Amino acid sequence: MTESLATPNAIGIHDAEVEHIFGLTGPLSASVKGYRPRQAQTEMAKAIADAIAGQTTLLAEAGTGTGKTYAYLTPALLWGGKVIVSTGTKNLQDQLFLRDIPTIRKVLKAPVSIALLKGRANYLCHYHLERTIQNGRLSSREDVGYLRDIGRFIKTTMTGDKAELARVPENASVWSLVTSTKDTCMGSECQYYQDCFVMKARKEAQQADVVVVNHHLFFADVALKDTGIAELLPSANTVIFDEAHQLPETATLFFGETVSTSQVLELCRDVLAEGLSHARDGAEWAKLVAPVERAARDLRLAFPQDIVRYSIDQIALSSPFFEALETLKSTMDEMIAVLEKQAERAETLEQCRARSILLAEQYEKWNAADDGKSGDYVLWVEAFSTSLQLHRTPLSIAPIFNKQREGVPRTWIFTSATMAVKNDFSHYVSQMGLWDQPARTWPSPFNYQEQGFLYVPNGMPQPNSYEYMDAVIDAALPVIEAAGGKTFLLCTTLKAVKHSAERLRDEFQKRGLDFPLFIHGDAGRTELLDRFRAAGNGVLIGSQSFWEGVDVRGDALSLVIIDKLPFAPPDDPVLSARIAAMEKKGLNGFVHHQLPEAIINLKQGAGRLIRDEGDKGVLMICDPRLISKPYGKRIWQSLPSFARTRELAEVQAFFKKIRNPG
Ligand SMILES: Nc1ncnc2c1ncn2[C@@H]1O[C@H](COP(=O)(O)OP(=O)(O)OP(=O)(O)O)[C@@H](O)[C@H]1O
Ligand code: SF4
Ligand SMILES: [Mg+2]
Repeated sequence: MTESLATPNAIGIHDAEVEHIFGLTGPLSASVKGYRPRQAQTEMAKAIADAIAGQTTLLAEAGTGTGKTYAYLTPALLWGGKVIVSTGTKNLQDQLFLRDIPTIRKVLKAPVSIALLKGRANYLCHYHLERTIQNGRLSSREDVGYLRDIGRFIKTTMTGDKAELARVPENASVWSLVTSTKDTCMGSECQYYQDCFVMKARKEAQQADVVVVNHHLFFADVALKDTGIAELLPSANTVIFDEAHQLPETATLFFGETVSTSQVLELCRDVLAEGLSHARDGAEWAKLVAPVERAARDLRLAFPQDIVRYSIDQIALSSPFFEALETLKSTMDEMIAVLEKQAERAETLEQCRARSILLAEQYEKWNAADDGKSGDYVLWVEAFSTSLQLHRTPLSIAPIFNKQREGVPRTWIFTSATMAVKNDFSHYVSQMGLWDQPARTWPSPFNYQEQGFLYVPNGMPQPNSYEYMDAVIDAALPVIEAAGGKTFLLCTTLKAVKHSAERLRDEFQKRGLDFPLFIHGDAGRTELLDRFRAAGNGVLIGSQSFWEGVDVRGDALSLVIIDKLPFAPPDDPVLSARIAAMEKKGLNGFVHHQLPEAIINLKQGAGRLIRDEGDKGVLMICDPRLISKPYGKRIWQSLPSFARTRELAEVQAFFKKIRNPG
């Protein structure tokens, strides 16, 4: 870990200036609509200014809606030097780059340049677009239209960022044909190199004072070395992670490795095609690839037809899986031996050779005996309808992340509304390896006692029972009616979203309630939220992605309903391995891992409700375990300190009062 250069006399050197900026007569008050000084925000800004002055690490937690963005941007723009801000999603990245940073820059009159850097797949590639237009082989009429739009867009865009072309949906298949990957990019050999959007974005990031990235990009760099972060990090003085509670999950995703049987099948197809066209006499190509393909298929067939996940120790030693894995490795080696001889006959054959070697290396790493012993990685498989993915996930991300933080001393800020459980950061700290680093929590600026109620209905069945979701809807209906719509129903599963949507649609019709319904998946997240805000009496049903980072201020959102306590599914192999590892150390996996995770999630969901000193509303948590289980108390004590009730009548009276004040 880097040694901290904290200088005691750096503490407080910017206090007066921060006080002024955030104060009643300061520049923020003068230019931000509805601005009111909030002590938590000002104190947090001071602490971050101190961390920047001393080049230290700080974990800074302040409640949802406190205004953390300005609290870190102000010191960062004034004193942070070269700053990297990383946030959870591309949406939040755009919001920082287009809205929050320009606002603060203007308010502070700070002469800093800013840049936005996303992953390669977000930028149009001139070369691949050109090729796709020429080949003209598209799988649908829709894609033909999209390609036309993209062809027009590339002539006017400055950035090539696909987010600017909202007309073509983010998940349209055509995007993969007009963007590049590390493997398919020609780099400096490319004829379009001078105009290339990927290169341009990276160059701008190099030169800018403040660069906005996302956690995926930040961590993908460890594995791919193709994100531009590696060139950026060495010169950064300050790194700020917003939505830092997401880091453990994102890092776990990227610090691991995944290899799929479909990659093998694609490779075999290419080897066959390229071999036949460039080196027909070089080998019996069909006979060469057939056994590799068979082994890849056998690997998938070792598991039942439905979609399943198993950790390696759940796979019986007698399972055909292990034999198929060995056969796959050996047949791939034979294929590589032939490719080594033939590769010089064509560039495409050389590419096949390189790909085969990379793939073979990944399968080679899947050596049960080694990893079983070291215990550093969890090996697990995930079976899809026609493919099998092999995952190798680190048990702990702490050592890898600490390695990434090594090097030049700099400031590291971790901020979120939810890193701690009742001021206790130990769960987060041990996941991230941030031992002995200062961590602070500031109380929320809101008066939750006055502004809201926590309502836990009586008589709910057990959450795993068949009738549970119907009971949730039955209990929710009178509350939604009392609130006049204005509801988020946050579900723990997509299945629950679907079921609730059907039931609510029926019930609204039966009862003659005209609350517009917005269902997760019916449109993009931003669009759904815009429509929800505009409706003013909408009911939005969402799963995980709506629990976080959603800001609906004011009257349009007055009721947040949560179906179940958000415990992670118990069949997750990485989770079980982590719990097993904790229990070996004498810790209780439920108390030290699952419970804090669920609390952090729940706090995020609850945090959607009160976003302003004037917001009022009800948080309804349907799960009876909140009351019946011994751990329930720990959960509700971690939530904002709402007034609490179990009586529907009390909730109805509360809504009556806010709807007809006075
Ligand atoms: N002192 C203030 N007075 C009034 N409004 C403010 C103040 N500071 C920030 N805001 C506004 O409050 C809203 C929420 O701020 P912000 O998004 O930074 O909250 P946050 O603390 O990051 O919350 P979350 O954890 O939910 O992301 C923004 O619209 C912002 O412009
Ligand atoms: S350099 Fe790579 S990403 Fe850029 S246009 Fe060429 S192939 Fe596409
Ligand atoms: Mg925020």
